Amino acid sequence: MVHPAALVAAGGFVWAVKNVAEKRKRNPRGLPTPPGPRGLPVLGNLLQLPQAEQWKVYSEWSREYGDMVYVDVMGQPILVLGSLEITEDLMEKHATMYSDRPTLPIGQFIDLSNSFAMMNYGAEWRHDRRVFHQYLNQHAVTQYHPIIEEEVSNLLRRLTEKPEDFRERIRFALGSIIMRVAYGFDDVETNKALVSDAERLVSAFNEAIVPGRYLVNSFPSLGGIPDWFPGAGFKERFRELDRLNLYMLSSPFESAKKNLKEGRRSAHPNMATDLIDKLQEENTPSWIGRESSARNVCGLAYLTGADTTVSSAWALVFALATHPGVQKKAQEELDLVVGNDRLPQVSDRENLPYIAAIVKEVSRWHSVVPLGLARASAEDSEYNGYFIPKGTYLMMNTWAFMHDPAVFEKPMDFIPERYLKDGKINAAVRDPESGAFGYGRRICPGRHLSNDAIFLLAASLLAVYHISPPKDESGKPIAMQFTPSSDVVSTPLPYQCEFSPRSEKHAALFM
Ligand code: HEM
Repeated sequence: MVHPAALVAAGGFVWAVKNVAEKRKRNPRGLPTPPGPRGLPVLGNLLQLPQAEQWKVYSEWSREYGDMVYVDVMGQPILVLGSLEITEDLMEKHATMYSDRPTLPIGQFIDLSNSFAMMNYGAEWRHDRRVFHQYLNQHAVTQYHPIIEEEVSNLLRRLTEKPEDFRERIRFALGSIIMRVAYGFDDVETNKALVSDAERLVSAFNEAIVPGRYLVNSFPSLGGIPDWFPGAGFKERFRELDRLNLYMLSSPFESAKKNLKEGRRSAHPNMATDLIDKLQEENTPSWIGRESSARNVCGLAYLTGADTTVSSAWALVFALATHPGVQKKAQEELDLVVGNDRLPQVSDRENLPYIAAIVKEVSRWHSVVPLGLARASAEDSEYNGYFIPKGTYLMMNTWAFMHDPAVFEKPMDFIPERYLKDGKINAAVRDPESGAFGYGRRICPGRHLSNDAIFLLAASLLAVYHISPPKDESGKPIAMQFTPSSDVVSTPLPYQCEFSPRSEKHAALFM
């Protein structure tokens, strides 16, 4: 009789030989993977992954190991890109290889398959992205300028009602812009309810994907444990999130359909109205497929656009409050170009280069998505003499690219002047847009809407308010501390500041 241990040993030997043969087939030239910190058996580099301001630790790793740092987290290869040149080369020239998205373990519970932001590169992604782009390209977003102008003007008024709630007021104004662009509800209360439901979904989703918050993110097979098993409570929480996700996808779209059927049309152009009109015009057999695609595309606008734009707006307000010199220059420009008889409009941008430079500097100075939205490699590949296995997750250290002292002098300082020459935007200075909004074919398709909204917010706040640090009881300014959160979408942690109208005449513009 053969001893079981011998069987195991023989089995192990056969497995090892097969494994070596498989590796040789996948990597015939025996290339090394890029360098990186040494990990532990089985766990790999799991315990070395930083949990706070990860981008700073990854910058140090890049200094130590090079522009491509390879780590292994329990068998999952991750490549951290520390050079903008390599990132752009991989994302643009080798786009078909590096434009997939990682499979999130929570995808076992929450159906993310319909969101093109999470789809792999391919025909379905291309179709939905094209639909989205049709409504949010640079030219198309001009049709939403009246919505942006109305919401920003409402915000200016609401800030005087309860200035200490400015963060929530800004969140609501920007959220309403995106909801109105997506669904066309003109009624404030409907938008309030929608923004609040969507907010609940976004924050629960962000919490669910924080590495380490739920064990299932590091050990996906835990998703298979039975519901009654101790510690399986996360499954029900994720299922609840799935129900909310489905509700948010269908409920506003169905309401938009009902409104149209009953003859209630929005005063402004919006995505849902146009898509529903088109779907009804062409009542073909593929109608249902296209209706679900229309629903998904509208639903994605808030999920991807709100937190990101709000994070940028909060960074903008912080930067203005702490840079009185920047405010003064911006106000001189506004007084000269717009005067004090009206509020600024998005179409004033051409003549307001200093404000345009402030918007660029905000997106560089505070990285909203500091490590980009992770990509995955579609096949085994070689790059710069290294082997990159299929399914490797790629993270782009956007924060490091935006704070590279060789490109941006004094990178930690807020200096809008760096983009200007002879009173105009200097085309020779690197535009933070490529980086801050991602890369290559998956670059953020909502960036024009976001840029227009942030521009008008900056111009309008500066036109009518002085923004300053909070004061203590004796009237002395309190020093402000900028702390970004360490989430995928990094948000400035709560801070206070003061808004005071520049004059009665300015206040009359929004009252
Ligand atoms: C300050 C504001 C924003 C920032 C910093 C930002 C940043 C990003 C980044 C870094 C990506 C990943 C791109 C890549 O994979 O390389 C992305 C993707 C995306 N963004 Fe934005 N975004 C912002 C606002 C918006 C808005 C307002 C919308 C919608 C109205 C939006 C919709 C999307 C969508 C749908 C994707 C997925 C694209 C794809 O996978 O093909 N974003 N964004």
